[in-house]
Amino acid sequence: MAKQSKTFSCTACGSTFTKWSGRCDGCGEWNSIVEDTPLSAGPASKSLGGKRGSALELTDLSTEEAPPPRTQSGLEELDRVLGGGLVPASAILVGGDPGIGKSTLLLQAAARFAQAGLKTIYVSGEEASAQVRMRAQRLDLSDAPVKLAAETNLRNILTTLEAEMPQLAIIDSIQTMWADNVDSAPGSVSQVRAAAHELTNFAKRKGISIIMVGHVTKEGQIAGPRVVEHMVDTVLYFEGERGHQFRILRAVKNRFGPADEIGVFEMTGGGLSEVINPSALFLSERGEPSPGSVVFSGIEGTRPVLVEFQALIAPSPHAQARRSVVGWDASRLAMILAVLEARCGIPFAGLDVYLNVAGGLKVREPAADLAVAAALLSAREDAALPADTVVFGEISLSGALRPVGQGENRLKEAQKLGFTSAIVPSGGKVTGGDGLSLRSYADLTAFVGDIFGAG
Ligand code: TYD
Ligand code: MG
Repeated sequence: MAKQSKTFSCTACGSTFTKWSGRCDGCGEWNSIVEDTPLSAGPASKSLGGKRGSALELTDLSTEEAPPPRTQSGLEELDRVLGGGLVPASAILVGGDPGIGKSTLLLQAAARFAQAGLKTIYVSGEEASAQVRMRAQRLDLSDAPVKLAAETNLRNILTTLEAEMPQLAIIDSIQTMWADNVDSAPGSVSQVRAAAHELTNFAKRKGISIIMVGHVTKEGQIAGPRVVEHMVDTVLYFEGERGHQFRILRAVKNRFGPADEIGVFEMTGGGLSEVINPSALFLSERGEPSPGSVVFSGIEGTRPVLVEFQALIAPSPHAQARRSVVGWDASRLAMILAVLEARCGIPFAGLDVYLNVAGGLKVREPAADLAVAAALLSAREDAALPADTVVFGEISLSGALRPVGQGENRLKEAQKLGFTSAIVPSGGKVTGGDGLSLRSYADLTAFVGDIFGAG
């Protein structure tokens, strides 16, 4: 018979261990490992051998059931990220940095869902009811039929929800919740895990949709981290740069819709307002064509979005040149620099490289490779790209340009926003850019030679 042994987990990354140590092997953090307390002190686990279970009833894959009825909030940017509206009995986690606007978003969402006919309860563990009411007043939502409570005791919250039976409950935030069957402080891994587990189970059992807020740690994980993500149906991240008013709600996991869908909002004095045409917004600060600036025609979820990549290159005063990236993947940048050097003979040694995506969007597509290479070259050669040109394409290690998906949508969006030409990989069928003049290249060297007269 196996002995029930203790388990330990890291409060920073969620890795689990069988014994305690001072440093986490998973993320390298010191003093982050704590002992897990089991949710219920059940009997020691027994081997399954020997005793027979009961046979399961097996079913077919075909279904007669209709897709779940969804409720739309009327906030289009939110509904799309949810996969077309709120699914009953779903558990949703909304993560983001403190102060980014999660409470504001969810209060607005609560009001909209309540107005759309869902019985809605908003539970704040972070603010007093009076504070939430003041926020509602600022957002002009005082009349919305949302019921409000300030509470952190999970048992009281579940009892209240069971008595009231709302269709939607918002829990702000999961880090402030306290389950009295778990013997550790609110915000600890065990507490967060227990609270999320209880709430998710409750949602399924009672048919109540629950939206939980989760703060992100400095490492960018939802604290009490990964452990919560796998329990819930949908994980949304609310992102943005502090200095910018743009906020992006991104689905990183969704059992009821496409992942990677984004919704774009703008933080104003009166709350978050939707941005229906994000391309126009991301390009709004763009001036005359300048060296280092390239417009990328990207796809975010189901939508094309144009964004500007900006590169700056300067002689480095340091022995080791700087590589600084905001809004894109640093290792992907290193790869592009290596390909430019190895395949096109353009060295970046001794040069500091800065790359930035304007507007605070985080681009994850490899389709941006060619736009990044173009921005780097344009900055290095101090030569602007032809005006009104968009760029997309993936670069392989050999220096070949690979066609990317949804070329047609990318070109259409560019045309809609007044662009007149596009630089794209050749090969693959590029259609849809009827009004655009297309320049296509098979490899990076051909592109460099044609646009910058080098290579
Ligand atoms: P909040 O929703 O409290 O963030 P979170 O719950 O993610 O911690 O938002 C806090 C910020 O938003 C705060 O700095 C003020 C700003 N804000 C506005 O700009 N306009 C508004 O209408 C509201 C309510 C907040
Ligand atoms: Mg908040």
